[in-house]
Amino acid sequence: MIVKNLRIREVFATTTEKTIEVELETKKGIVRSSIPIGTSRGKYEVKFLPVENVIKKFLMIRRRFTGEEIRTQEEVDSLLRMIDKTQDLREIGGNLALAISSVFLKALAFENDMEVFEFLSKGKTTIPKPICNVAGGWKESGKSDVQEYLFLPVHQKSFLDSVTKIANAYRQTASMLVQKDPNFAFSKNLESAWVTKLDIESTLKILDRVATENLLKIGLDFAASQLWNGNEYVYSNSGLKLSRTEQISFVEDLTKRYPISYVEDPFHEDDFVSFSTLTHRIEPRIVCGDDLYATNLERLKLGIRNKASNGIVIKPSQVGTISDTIKVVNEAKKNKMITIMSHRSGETEDTLICHLAVGLGCEYVKFGISGERTVKINEMLRIEEKLKK
Ligand code: PGA
Ligand code: ZN
Repeated sequence: MIVKNLRIREVFATTTEKTIEVELETKKGIVRSSIPIGTSRGKYEVKFLPVENVIKKFLMIRRRFTGEEIRTQEEVDSLLRMIDKTQDLREIGGNLALAISSVFLKALAFENDMEVFEFLSKGKTTIPKPICNVAGGWKESGKSDVQEYLFLPVHQKSFLDSVTKIANAYRQTASMLVQKDPNFAFSKNLESAWVTKLDIESTLKILDRVATENLLKIGLDFAASQLWNGNEYVYSNSGLKLSRTEQISFVEDLTKRYPISYVEDPFHEDDFVSFSTLTHRIEPRIVCGDDLYATNLERLKLGIRNKASNGIVIKPSQVGTISDTIKVVNEAKKNKMITIMSHRSGETEDTLICHLAVGLGCEYVKFGISGERTVKINEMLRIEEKLKK
């Protein structure tokens, strides 16, 4: 495949922040990739450079690709790693690296007349289960104690069936919040989940009823690096201040009193030991690391040695290249960990993560359920339809 042209443009993410889109032209046609933006970015992620800097860097490195013949993803990604020799891609930016890496993945699939998920998959492919953010908050949009309250199916008949249940549950959650939360005004946060400032117990009581009625389970993303003040976990709405060991018991107790089957980042991103204790205590529930691993192979290996968790959140923009993303998913699967391919709070209309999730055999996808988030949900439905044929 010969690169005829490689272009960049500024586009907007759902948070109204600017991000980048890269466009690759070959004899076969044009494909494009745009990059999401995280809001609670972990400290072990590759560096995200501001759009203006990225554009300057792009103009400097574009000649390394144009006119070249590219045959494999590895060629693209090793060239990117040769251009930027830093681990965290701070020279060209993880966002630029991923834009280039992923646009080549799309072009290679296109070249082979395949969809990206088909191009990536080896053998039998199954559709992941959805885990969807239905309530919570962020600093920017009314802070709740738990960053995300999520719903996930117990068993999956089909992706469509699971999403239908979650969509019903999302609407029912709003009807219940109207009754129980005096401040509830149908506001939505960055991921189009309902904003509530109810404390954890009151929120979980509502979600318990809704989940049970819809045959769903509850998930929690504590994003606990944001709660950790260096000494204890501070929950501002509930007024709780918990030490490391109190936090372990607190989370364990919640999972035993409510139908919670998924817990993400219950501890700050350096506390492998607490992760390991909790995982041991509450298995087979999924305990997974997002900021903990930052989709980084070395951190994942550390987690595996410590038996820190039984699940890992995968966000390509945390690591910067498709090849590195694939390595992390494969290593996690080799060690029987559950993989959850996830969106970020600042998204674009790009649906590549759907294809990565299916093509790499992830067990779950983590998206929002409402508003602009339906772009990903609907792409999964198209993929599901194709898999049935
Ligand atoms: P992000 O946060 O926007 O930084 O990806 C979402 C999350 O913690 O899952
Ligand atoms: Zn998270």
